[in-house]
Amino acid sequence: MSRSFRVGPGGRLVGRLRVPGDKSISHRAVMLGAIAEGTTRVSGFLTGADAISTMNVFRALGVEIEGPDDGRVVVHGVGSRGLRATAGPLDCGNAGTAMRLLMGLLAGQRFESTLVGDESLSRRPMRRVAEPLQRMGARIETNGGCPPVRILPSDGLHAIRYELPMASAQLKSALLLAGLYAEGETVVVEPAPTRDHTERMLRGFGVDVRSDDRVVSLRGGQALHAASVDVPADLSSAAFFLVGASIAPGSDLVLEHVGINPTRTGCLEILRRMGADIEIVSPRQAGGEPVADLRVRSAPLRGIEVPPELVPLAIDEFPALFVAACCAEGRTVVRGAEELRVKESDRIAAMAEGLAALGFATQTTDDGIVIDGRGGDDAVFRAGRGLAHHDHRIAMSLAIAALRSSGIVEVDDTANVATSFPGFVGLARGAGLDIEEHGAGGRR
Ligand code: S3P
Repeated sequence: MSRSFRVGPGGRLVGRLRVPGDKSISHRAVMLGAIAEGTTRVSGFLTGADAISTMNVFRALGVEIEGPDDGRVVVHGVGSRGLRATAGPLDCGNAGTAMRLLMGLLAGQRFESTLVGDESLSRRPMRRVAEPLQRMGARIETNGGCPPVRILPSDGLHAIRYELPMASAQLKSALLLAGLYAEGETVVVEPAPTRDHTERMLRGFGVDVRSDDRVVSLRGGQALHAASVDVPADLSSAAFFLVGASIAPGSDLVLEHVGINPTRTGCLEILRRMGADIEIVSPRQAGGEPVADLRVRSAPLRGIEVPPELVPLAIDEFPALFVAACCAEGRTVVRGAEELRVKESDRIAAMAEGLAALGFATQTTDDGIVIDGRGGDDAVFRAGRGLAHHDHRIAMSLAIAALRSSGIVEVDDTANVATSFPGFVGLARGAGLDIEEHGAGGRR
C-alpha cells in the first residue's frame, strides 16, 4: 500500500502528548505472558503492526489472547510446554524483534515451525541468532542466513556461555529465552550494555536472572508465573518529538509517561550534550521500568562526537538524531554504528539519501556519518521529496525535518510508520507539525 507524507515548512511543537506504548516491552509482554502459568494483564500495549504480529503468532501457537482494547491485552498463559504446532508459517511481518526472540523461544519446542516476514525483514540477518542456538543443540535452517527460518523439533537444548559478537538485545534475549528450555546455566556476555527489558520482565514473571555488568545468566527449567505489565510510552517514538521540539524555535512540549530505562536513554544523553533543553519530570517506576514525563523546549544545538558507548543505548534514535545534527552548530561525528546498516533499512544510507533530497549533504562512513550542521534559527533544509525505504523511523525523521525547511517536505513509502507509531500524523498535527498523509484511502 503506497502512502506518503506532505509536511508544510516551519512551525513549532507545543502542548502535552503521550506517544504509543513501547515496542520492545509490548513484544516481550505477549511472549512471556504466553509461556507463563496464569493470566497476564497488559496495559499501555502498542497497537502498532509489529506488536500485533507477535500477538497473532502466539494465537496461531494456541494461546488465547484478548484485545487489544484501548491498550489492554489479556494473555491466557499456557505454560512453558503448552505451545502447539501450527499448520502454516508464522508471519512476523516487519518485526525483527518478533522473529529473533521467537527463534530462541521456538528452538526449545518439540514441534517444527517456520518464521516468515515481509520484504524488509526477509533481507535481515538471522545467522547471528541461528548459530549460537545451533551450538545449544537447536536445529535451525535459514535461507542463506535470512528468513524464512525453519526450526525443527528439539530433543533438548544444552546451556552455553556465549560472547555476543555485536551489541544486540535481540540476540541476547533470544539466547535467554532458549536458555529457559536448556539443561544447565546459559551465560551471555555482551560487548556493551544493551536494553535489558527481557531480564527485567523475566524477573517480574518470577525467573531468577542474574546480571552483573555485561554478563547475564539464567538456569534452564524455571517456570514463569503470570504478572501484570504496564507498558510505558516508547522513548524511541518520543525521540521524534524531542528532536522536533529542540530544533523548532518557540517549542515547549511535554511527553507523558515515557520509559527512561537507562539502557535506552542514550538519545537523551546525546541531545543533552548537544545542548538540548530536556527536563525529566516526576520520575517514577511502572511495572518494573523507570518512567517520567519529559519536558522539551527549543534550544541552540551544537555538534558533538558521539561517544561510542552511547551508540547501543541510542541505536533506534539515530535517524532523528541526524536531523538534530543538521540543525546544530558545527560537526557531529557518529562512529561504531555499523548495526544501523542492518535495521529495517540501511539507516545510514537511507538518511543520507533523504537529507540530500532536502538539500543537505552528509558524509557517510562504513560505521557512521559526519554531519556539518548549519546551526542558527533559520531553515537548514529545502523543499524536496524523500523516500522512507519501508522504514518507519526514516519516514518520521524526514517528516520532522520540515520544521526547519524553507519548503514543503514530501516523504514517500510511509505505510510502515504504523508498525511502531499508529496515530503519528494526528499526534504530530495536534502538536503543531503541518503534516498530512496521502495514500490508498486519500488524504487524512
Ligand atoms: C530491540 C533491539 C534492537 C533495536 C530494536 C528492538 C529489542 O535491535 O534496534 O528496534 O526489542 O530487543 P538489535 O538487538 O538488533 O540491536
